[in-house]
Amino acid sequence: MTGSTPPFPPPDSRPEVERLKGYSAPLEGRRGLLRLDFNENTLGPSPKVVEAIRSFPEELIAVYPEYDGLREALIANLKASKASLAHPLDPQQVGVFNGVDAAIHAVIHAYGSPGDTLLTTSPTFGYYAPCAAMQGMALEAIPHGMPGFVVPLDALRTALARKPRILMLCNPNNPTGARLAADQVLALAASAPDTLVVVDELYEAFTGDSVLPVVDFQTQANVLVLRSLAKTAGLAGLRLGFAIGHPGVVDRVGRVTGPYDVNSLAVAAAFAALEDQAYTDHYVREVLRARDWLVSVLTRSRVVFHCDGGNYLLVWPERPADAVEQALRSQGILVRSMTGKPQLEGALRVSIGTLEQMQRFWRAYSSICA
Ligand SMILES: Cc1ncc(COP(=O)(O)O)c(C=O)c1O
Repeated sequence: MTGSTPPFPPPDSRPEVERLKGYSAPLEGRRGLLRLDFNENTLGPSPKVVEAIRSFPEELIAVYPEYDGLREALIANLKASKASLAHPLDPQQVGVFNGVDAAIHAVIHAYGSPGDTLLTTSPTFGYYAPCAAMQGMALEAIPHGMPGFVVPLDALRTALARKPRILMLCNPNNPTGARLAADQVLALAASAPDTLVVVDELYEAFTGDSVLPVVDFQTQANVLVLRSLAKTAGLAGLRLGFAIGHPGVVDRVGRVTGPYDVNSLAVAAAFAALEDQAYTDHYVREVLRARDWLVSVLTRSRVVFHCDGGNYLLVWPERPADAVEQALRSQGILVRSMTGKPQLEGALRVSIGTLEQMQRFWRAYSSICA
């Protein structure tokens, strides 16, 4: 290269990517604060997970991750769960991913061609739309019914008749908590055999509305369930998500992922977390108790709020949401302003942690909004 070579711009990417606004989450400057902004586990993982990481064998650092027994352990955990499984699962029906985000990305990559439609509801989890866009898919997002952010079942049925390629159903929905019973989800899927119905059950532990206890993937091969150890089990930083479905679907989605996308520490942590389900169950019970407490305080104090499924709720402060978000941050508490999101103007999403944490939140919120 000579000094006179003019600088040239970086090459363009695919047109879909050129148009894309990257999905960014405000993840900096959170350390040491009470993080009620991403629906994470606010206590951390089981001590058994911490121990598994501390005693992680050195010899496994230099080798590619080994996944032996992981799918089997997940199936055993599902079998032992309160609702159990109606039909036995085979390890080929479970795909492991670097978080459910990676699973969503892979599903859309594997199934969505440019010009296909991705059907979902609105407002919903923010990562479906950019994944559809990067694939060149059209997005049809049907608004939740008001009042109450009701899942727009009739409109979804009508839209399914147009044979979208993928339906993404977040159940319970983030951030509204709107929920569907398992038979409602399966009825939608049964009416649309040409559509892959992806049920994002990330927050299922807080409602119990999973399709897994009822679905038979042999006859409902178009259903794919997403689960994660990020939120309830507290492994968000390690990244571990699962997809459960018909082996043919799991295989196709697996074809677009790298062979070592899930790292060895996440695998070790997953085994320990799955073994200590009692810890996760205990955390879920604590969150539900704290949520009940916060709901009763908000009701008594006549704060406008919306709470349904999930470890989060929405509040509409009388002051601008962004200002309240900032004021809470200055007191060491993070929440998420919903400014700019359809139907959620003026709202804050508040993740639910322990009772003590929610009491701290309420002291700060009520002093700011008094
Ligand atoms: C509905 C929903 N799906 C998926 C994800 C991503 O989960 P993971 O951390 O397993 O990638 C989130 C995270 O906030 C979520 O809210």
